[in-house]
Amino acid sequence: MSEAIGYELHGDIAILAANNPPVNALGHAVRQGLADGMARAEAEGARAVLIYGTGRTYFAGADIREFGKPPKEPHLPELCNRIEASPLLVVSAIHGTALGGGLEVALGTHYRIAVPTAKVGLPEVHLGILPGAGGTQRLPRVAGVEAALDMITTGRHVRADEALKLGVIDRVVEGDPREIGLAYVRELLDEGAPRRPVSEMPAPAPVDFDAVYAAVLKKGRGQLSPATAVRAVQAACEAESFAAGLKRERDLFMDLMNSDQREGLIHAFFADRAVGKLPELDGVAPRPLAAIGVIGGGTMGAGIATAALLSGLTVTMLEMTPEAAEAAKGRIEGNLSGALKRGKLTSQQFDNLTTKALTLATDYAALSEADLVIEAVFEDMEVKKQVFTKLDAVCKQGAVLASNTSYLDINQIAAVTSRPQDVLGLHFFSPAHVMKLLEVVIADQTAPDVAATGFALGKRLGKVSVRAGVCDGFIGNRILSVYRTCADHMILDGASPYEIDDALEEFGFAMGPFAVADLAGLDIGWAVRKRKRAEGLDPRARDSAYADKLCEAGHFGQKTGKGYYDYAAGAKARVPNPEVMPLIEGERAQQGITPRAFSKDEIVRRYMAAMVNEAAKVVGEGIARRPLDVDVTLLYGYGFPRYRGGPLKWADLQGLPELLADIKRWAAEDAYFWQPAPLLEQLVAEGRSFDDLNKEAV
Ligand code: 3HC
Ligand code: NAI
Repeated sequence: MSEAIGYELHGDIAILAANNPPVNALGHAVRQGLADGMARAEAEGARAVLIYGTGRTYFAGADIREFGKPPKEPHLPELCNRIEASPLLVVSAIHGTALGGGLEVALGTHYRIAVPTAKVGLPEVHLGILPGAGGTQRLPRVAGVEAALDMITTGRHVRADEALKLGVIDRVVEGDPREIGLAYVRELLDEGAPRRPVSEMPAPAPVDFDAVYAAVLKKGRGQLSPATAVRAVQAACEAESFAAGLKRERDLFMDLMNSDQREGLIHAFFADRAVGKLPELDGVAPRPLAAIGVIGGGTMGAGIATAALLSGLTVTMLEMTPEAAEAAKGRIEGNLSGALKRGKLTSQQFDNLTTKALTLATDYAALSEADLVIEAVFEDMEVKKQVFTKLDAVCKQGAVLASNTSYLDINQIAAVTSRPQDVLGLHFFSPAHVMKLLEVVIADQTAPDVAATGFALGKRLGKVSVRAGVCDGFIGNRILSVYRTCADHMILDGASPYEIDDALEEFGFAMGPFAVADLAGLDIGWAVRKRKRAEGLDPRARDSAYADKLCEAGHFGQKTGKGYYDYAAGAKARVPNPEVMPLIEGERAQQGITPRAFSKDEIVRRYMAAMVNEAAKVVGEGIARRPLDVDVTLLYGYGFPRYRGGPLKWADLQGLPELLADIKRWAAEDAYFWQPAPLLEQLVAEGRSFDDLNKEAV
């Protein structure tokens, strides 16, 4: 017997207890242990078998770390069949999560009992695959096609009470999984309940699978796994036998298993978990965090305050005037009313948050007891310096002082205080109560426990926090400004904003860069351009004024109804703004450029190469700790398609030598913009990948 599965004969009931922390993943030892345990129970004359998990959960799925390696017997599909075919009565007792292969094992057993807090699901599509151990064949037989399609294509976790209604679970009982499981098995034996193999249940009636496939494909924006899973469920209805359905599921599973999308999504899964692991902060305790202050209650400050209130922190919101403070409160209430409408807050909680937990202020003395203060005032260094000078004067010793600046130098901000060790950047994304990304910007003198407090705040607010170093724009905005510049160059040379948006939306971005600019407000980019010009542009840099003219005409994007697009018919019904192309054509004529055509492929290739090249510089300079930190930043803050894993995973999958060759070729036309990143050149020379760097860093 493998140690991963404990075996015990309790009277006439054999108990198989999984013991493979942390999540009882169904790795080889667990599968072998289950197969051996079934054989032993049968040989020792047991009448029934109870399967449950020790520790925090039942089986959370196949062991994802085994993907891409040579598979070892017993394979999971055969194991599920073997459990189901046993002459003994087999029962699962579920707590924690029965996910993926975990639910498939449970569906291979004849009865399922769960504790009320248990969740079940088939989340494989999020990993770029589909349930490959009979889940697409058994779930429709117990829950019906509609429910199975919903669970399998969304991958959502279903709570025990809903699973009970759907017939996925037979009984929900509070208690210890071993105890409730044993009592249930005893009851089933006493009443002579029959074995109940799901594979022997009738095939469910088909639905219009072509229509479902098309709808799911469209919703996935190019992600293949949910749509492919529809075809597997179709086989549950239409294949000539259960075995034939399983075979079809297996074939589709293997197609996906061998895809780049599977690699991208699994990279994203592990990157999510690795990004918060920072050896330098191991064992460093964060400072206390109960009361926070927010300065500036505009778009960002109100969003940050909302997130903090929802996480149970008390918030003091400081604004310039009582009127501005009231306006900030209005914005916070607007944000919270979304949660109220969705039933995530009761009206009592809403009132408590907006009256008791939130205090408005215009006097800095109100911040004297705050544990952490986040500044979100105008993006202007002088204003920020004034704010931090005042904070330094009033805040208690040990308070953490943070700036939400998008681009400005945190070291300069810290330098106006007498406590630069307490200062860091906490860069949220808009809308701050919705977007998951938080860049924790560590300045030269930031103390380790201040950095740890930044991460602790991120965790408390439910954010994915990424460590970033100080530079113009940190990780995300620095890379963004380069690939945006690349898009602007393509426009000068002949592409239209609409062709660029189309090509990148087809690549998988939720929105193309010009639609995003309209959403964020064209005035933001305008301010950055003005600042950079004032600082002095390199004479070799290609500049253009057409976007400034759009702003000068009062077009700031969605908020004014027009930008690159016209939003007269609503945000979703965008149409090109007819004023844009003449401005662009005028600019080309003025610069003496003869426009040429760009294919979708070339647009994507150039845009992505610019992104990857700058990302390699960001990693090479230590602004991002590892390539995966860049990937997570782009995935959570910039709408990068998750199924491509992030820009540096995408680059690995493309081949770094080919990308470098493109960059060098384009350098012949613009050597200033296309300067190859030293790290990219080094990796190519050594025949290594970005992922090799991730592995070395772990
Ligand atoms: N295989 C291997 N490792 C896994 C794993 C899995 N299926 N699921 C979780 N882990 C690891 C994590 O990487 C993490 O490792 P670390 O501590 O070294 O970083 C550790 O277990 C704990 O995971 P979390 O930090 O995510 O713990 P949470 O308590 O927040 O969440 C969970 C637990 C809900 C189970 C979450 O881990 C999860 O969603 N896991 C993936 C579940 C899944 O997708 N299952 C389907 C797998 S594919 C499959 O079964 C194919 C089959 O159809 C053939
Ligand atoms: P905003 O203009 O919507 O809000 C700024 C608020 O600060 C205003 O309400 C103003 O009254 C207040 N304010 C200005 N000076 C003040 C002072 N001295 N004391 C108190 N309050 C003061 O600006 P927004 O968009 O919220 O940006 C704030 C900061 O967040 C900027 O540094 C910006 O770069 C950064 N940021 C913005 C993002 C965005 O998408 N808007 C994203 C991430 C960061």
